[in-house]
Amino acid sequence: MNKPKRYTITSALPYTNGPIHIGHLAGVYVPADIYARYLRLTGNDVVFIGGSDEHGVPITIKAKNEGVTPQDVVDKYHTIIKQSFEEFGISFDNYSRTSAKIHHETASEFFKTLYDKGDFIEETTEQLYDEKANQFLADRFVTGTCPKCGNEEAYGDQCEKCGTSLNATDLINPKSALTGNVPTLKETKHWFLPLDKHEAFLREWILEGHKKDWKPNVYGQVKSWIDDGLRPRAVTRDLDWGIPVPVPGGEGKVLYVWFDAPIGYISSTKEWAQREGKDWEPYWKSNDTKLVHFIGKDNIVFHCIIFPAMLKAEGSYILPENVPANEFLNLEGNKLSTSKNWAVWLPEYLKEFPNQQDVLRYALTANAPETKDNDFTWKDFQARNNNELVAIFGNFINRVVVLTNKYYNGIVPAPGAFSQVDEETLAALKAYPEVISSSIERYRFREAQTELMNLARLGNKYLADEEPWKVIKVDEARTQTIMYVALQIASALATLSEPFLPFTSTKLKSILNVTSSAVETSWNEVSTKDVLLPVGHQIGEAELLFSKIEDETIQFQLDKLEASKKANEAANKAVEPQKPTITFDDFTKLDMRVGTILEAEKMPKAKKLLVLKVDTGLDVRTIVSGIAESFTPEEVVGKKVTVLVNLAPRALRGVESQGMILMTESTEGKLVFVNPDDANVPNGLHIS
Ligand code: 2FM
Ligand code: ZN
Repeated sequence: MNKPKRYTITSALPYTNGPIHIGHLAGVYVPADIYARYLRLTGNDVVFIGGSDEHGVPITIKAKNEGVTPQDVVDKYHTIIKQSFEEFGISFDNYSRTSAKIHHETASEFFKTLYDKGDFIEETTEQLYDEKANQFLADRFVTGTCPKCGNEEAYGDQCEKCGTSLNATDLINPKSALTGNVPTLKETKHWFLPLDKHEAFLREWILEGHKKDWKPNVYGQVKSWIDDGLRPRAVTRDLDWGIPVPVPGGEGKVLYVWFDAPIGYISSTKEWAQREGKDWEPYWKSNDTKLVHFIGKDNIVFHCIIFPAMLKAEGSYILPENVPANEFLNLEGNKLSTSKNWAVWLPEYLKEFPNQQDVLRYALTANAPETKDNDFTWKDFQARNNNELVAIFGNFINRVVVLTNKYYNGIVPAPGAFSQVDEETLAALKAYPEVISSSIERYRFREAQTELMNLARLGNKYLADEEPWKVIKVDEARTQTIMYVALQIASALATLSEPFLPFTSTKLKSILNVTSSAVETSWNEVSTKDVLLPVGHQIGEAELLFSKIEDETIQFQLDKLEASKKANEAANKAVEPQKPTITFDDFTKLDMRVGTILEAEKMPKAKKLLVLKVDTGLDVRTIVSGIAESFTPEEVVGKKVTVLVNLAPRALRGVESQGMILMTESTEGKLVFVNPDDANVPNGLHIS
């Protein structure tokens, strides 16, 4: 494509069934935002589109689980998601939602156009049905084994393990997610998009047209699906939450969520255009527009095959130029999981790390899962902040600003003759915009950010080598030159950091007092202008750009994750099956009494055992108890306990145990006493 006249950048519309977490950010929103900000900075006409995906089974399931309506769920999470994106600095030009009227109209119209053109197959087929729930089972309402990779937890529309898109009837051993029942088959009518008919075009467009410029992970997945053969795919569902099917016979049915959601990009663009007094159509229909979809790898099939087939069938739309899908981000070695609460949630991060949006953006880009799944660890996050943002970027800026204020009252000094190092440094500086641009334009955001950091490194090294704080004592003119050069680097950093670290860039621009357009340097001007910060320009006071993150802060986060892990383990621990029934007579044979532990000591050479003296109300007796890993002897003395007193005595390590203390386990797996919670209950009292 020649230089595009405008850009339409979309980012996957998140399901409104939970808040945003770092996986969403690293996979989709941070790279999309870097790209959009960069394009705007380089003078392009850009619309960056976002919005909430409010239909689909995940929302219905969440509503069912919480005993509320789907509308309640989407209203709650749409607000939370939208607000957290704003606070995090994701610079959408428009953030819409698929429950909006404009979206319902746009999606209905799109469906009708395809229907009128005869682009659907209308067919009655047997679909999975849950007799108990009285409901057809599609998408996430049904799980089963993926016929392609054997994953036992594949959904009715997709296997998230191998990415294959499925029809619910493809699943082996399907099971209803609503009742656990094995579904039956029942006839129902639906509209199918005949993907097989679009195969030739998809082959030509992607396999021949985009072999070189699409990421290998995206291209490879798409190729394998096309090579496997494409089949007609139902684009309607027997559900009551979604956009009603707008054609005769569609009563009681809705559009498949993956039919309506990507159309959400179009309706969000319309909403934006209406607000801004613009025409939306060139952004979707003009050949000189570059359309780019930012998504995670589980969305590839929908954006590279199904949505393009829909756009092509409609006839008046352009197709994406690129779909730079990312792989997945893991957290501390484990897959991110909403249900297991194994995540770093954006709203929590924003609360716990106020004004540190850029630190997370930086760490996520540095570890972006661009070519393979990657891992986020809190230690790495801390190291990226302390060793890179604080020690390199922040340190350089701080030195420049402090010294300029100290030596020249904050006024950019006039340089003398440049040394070879100065010339080389200024020349290197001018090369950065192009180097960073080239990486961004190839969707290599990690590489781009590393280059930005290399510029800060260049500045840091320049100051460390030239040592103005020493030179000032012997050569004032030379010091002026050094500080002048360093200030040029600081100014370049203020401009070039904007796509990656937007909050830092704004702060730095204000410190350098370059917020007015007369002194603000554009991206391209970093290369082309001779002087970025002119002699005589007054800068502001020093302010720290980044601050050190302490070990305690990181430990707090790790403890939170550990608590999630424990809670999950406890929840997952299979409840032991009930033992065979006993009679009341059997029960009355147990003689259980309230007792008090009077003395306790460790059993020599036995890790688990404590030897206790217990007042049972009948007598004071010795009981050997396996609780030493959960309690110290001091902790148990004085405790009220429940004792089974008529258990036959037995010798443990040579000490006769005359009974048993009843214990159970806490959710953290620690032993706890089954004890009378009223300390006034007298010893010897029967428990019955
Ligand atoms: O995977 C998801 O979270 C989907 N809600 C993404 C939709 S992207 C687009 F098509 F709307
Ligand atoms: Zn699979």
